[in-house]
Amino acid sequence: MKQTIFERYGGFANVSRVVSSFYNKILDSSITAPYFAHTHMKRLIDHQTKFIASIMGGPASFTNDYLEKVHERLNISEEAFMEAAYLLGETLEDFNFEDEDIRLVKQEFVNRKNHIVKRG
Ligand code: HEM
Repeated sequence: MKQTIFERYGGFANVSRVVSSFYNKILDSSITAPYFAHTHMKRLIDHQTKFIASIMGGPASFTNDYLEKVHERLNISEEAFMEAAYLLGETLEDFNFEDEDIRLVKQEFVNRKNHIVKRG
């Protein structure tokens, strides 16, 4: 059987390292960092690990309704969303993901945009 991206890159053990690195980038960017000023990073890293796992075809997933609910009060701009997408791609490159896999994971991320970015 064909392995998922999640399985091919080492499952949760490796994905949690990828997520930590991604979040360091997010906190280093002046475009995305302000949104996380009051966030418990450990808790968020835990959630994002599950999320990244799910967009790579691993276990665990978040429904679009849930994503809307947790982000609606945050007023996340399109610019911040796209910066996060760019930083995610950069992170996967750092971890030597193959180009096609990076494209697929970024696509899954961008597919959720309308549930994350502020409306109107
Ligand atoms: C596809 C993209 C994204 C997904 C799947 C996602 C997923 C999540 C999830 C699952 C949570 C809930 C954590 C919890 O229950 O405690 C969360 C919270 C949050 N997300 Fe996202 N997120 C995405 C994009 C973004 C972006 C682009 C930003 C900002 C630039 C952002 C900022 C936040 C913040 C500030 C929280 C709240 C943390 C807190 O509890 O204080 N998210 N996100």
